[in-house]
Amino acid sequence: MSAAADPSHFHKDNPFPARITENRLLNRTGSNKETRHFVVSLAGSGLHYEAGDSLGVYPTNRPSEVEEIITLLGARGDEPVLPARATDPMPLRAALTQGLDLDLPTRKMVEVVAGKVADPAHRQRLSALLQPEAAAELEQFLHQRSFVDFLAEFPTARFAPQEFVGLLRRLMPRLYSIASSPKVHPDAVHLTVVAVRYRTNDRDRVGVCSTFLSDRVELNEDPVPVFVHHSHFRPPEDGRRDCIMVGPGTGIAPFRAFVQDRVAAGATGRNWVFYGDQQRATDFLYEDEWLAYAAKGQVARLDLAWSRDQEHKVYVQDRMREHAAELWAWLQGGAHFYVCGDAKRMAKDVDLALHEIVAQQGGMDTAAAAAYIKQLKKEKRYQRDVY
Ligand SMILES: Cc1cc2nc3c(=O)[nH]c(=O)nc-3n(C[C@H](O)[C@H](O)[C@H](O)COP(=O)(O)OP(=O)(O)OC[C@H]3O[C@@H](n4cnc5c(N)ncnc54)[C@H](O)[C@@H]3O)c2cc1C
Ligand SMILES: NC(=O)c1ccc[n+]([C@@H]2O[C@H](COP(=O)([O-])OP(=O)(O)OC[C@H]3O[C@@H](n4cnc5c(N)ncnc54)[C@H](OP(=O)(O)O)[C@@H]3O)[C@@H](O)[C@H]2O)c1
Repeated sequence: MSAAADPSHFHKDNPFPARITENRLLNRTGSNKETRHFVVSLAGSGLHYEAGDSLGVYPTNRPSEVEEIITLLGARGDEPVLPARATDPMPLRAALTQGLDLDLPTRKMVEVVAGKVADPAHRQRLSALLQPEAAAELEQFLHQRSFVDFLAEFPTARFAPQEFVGLLRRLMPRLYSIASSPKVHPDAVHLTVVAVRYRTNDRDRVGVCSTFLSDRVELNEDPVPVFVHHSHFRPPEDGRRDCIMVGPGTGIAPFRAFVQDRVAAGATGRNWVFYGDQQRATDFLYEDEWLAYAAKGQVARLDLAWSRDQEHKVYVQDRMREHAAELWAWLQGGAHFYVCGDAKRMAKDVDLALHEIVAQQGGMDTAAAAAYIKQLKKEKRYQRDVY
């Protein structure tokens, strides 16, 4: 077996330099969102994945931000620096591009800059933020800034390149739910990624990895360091089991993999997909595929929630409540229940809806419904992949 074909050869600490062979916008004109479908070739890597796994991606930073930092530091870019945990020095430009997180400054940065600024008004402003009673204000101040903001806003705080680099943490890989089944695509993984773009403190900002994939990687050319992150999130082992999947937005990604996988395996259990996003006309990701599965009965139920197509928000958990009796019947028949997507609000609200449905349909009090759901989790029939 060649080194490249050895399944254990590539992992988180030795990522595979993959090529991206497809980058396609999934939203239609008029959408507020930019969700992209990527195909990442694993050919020659020996890497294997299963439906439910994620792909780890090591991004690089935006060149424009790197150049702005070099300029604001008054540096050239070729100064040798030793980043956190590196063993050998490297040029400043390479360190800022590849290995360091230019975002998420902490209180430490405010303290360091407060100690350096020559402008008394700036020193006073930063010192005020460091007072115990200003904790909320400090949090807000940091949330709206990345490291470059400090250099731009407080130019009298001067940093030597190494000193600045010493304040930055390592850039961490990002995980993406794999949206394909190895039974259909053994040598490639598909991803469904929202390009993160927003504006704070009068600056356009981007998510590092989502825009690395969307904007900066040249198709079939640039190597993208990746690894497979094996997960416990899996379709039912027993293909006869029914499968309920709740995945609004990019939460749909692993369920595209699950359904591909179950169809390819000839699983006889039914599939029920709850999906939604902002607008049906522009945001129905993989619409053709879902409608084809539904037409063939490979997806037995497809319940859609378009949050912004009417005055009041309609979410996936509203659709669950509308079909509470049937959902309960599926659960009582041994169905597995899965949730993927936003952790902050959606997954909590879906969990609440599930508790209410179990209590109402099963004629249980709150404690009994909670115990029923705890048992589902114990049997691995209630699994979540949320972020
Ligand atoms: C298991 C798992 C699976 C995942 N699967 C997917 C998937 O299938 N598809 C997908 O798209 N993502 C997925 N993610 C999320 C993904 O890993 C990244 O977190 C996401 O792409 C953002 O990374 P980034 O590097 O582009 O952004 P970053 O550079 O990390 O920036 C994101 C940060 O920007 C800030 N931010 C974002 N929007 C705003 C705003 N409006 N105002 C102020 N600040 C803001 C927030 O602090 C946020 O944390 C998954 C995560 C996990 C853990
Ligand atoms: N910065 C944030 O506050 C925030 C929030 C969510 C997601 N994200 C991030 O944005 C990226 C992409 O998100 P995404 O495309 O996966 O989808 P998303 O932004 O989570 O939205 C998908 C759908 O879920 C709806 N939704 C919003 N709140 C909900 C709730 N409480 N319960 C059920 N559904 C709800 C949205 O409706 P409406 O948008 O019309 O309300 C939309 O129709 C992810 O990386 C995610 O982590 C960020």
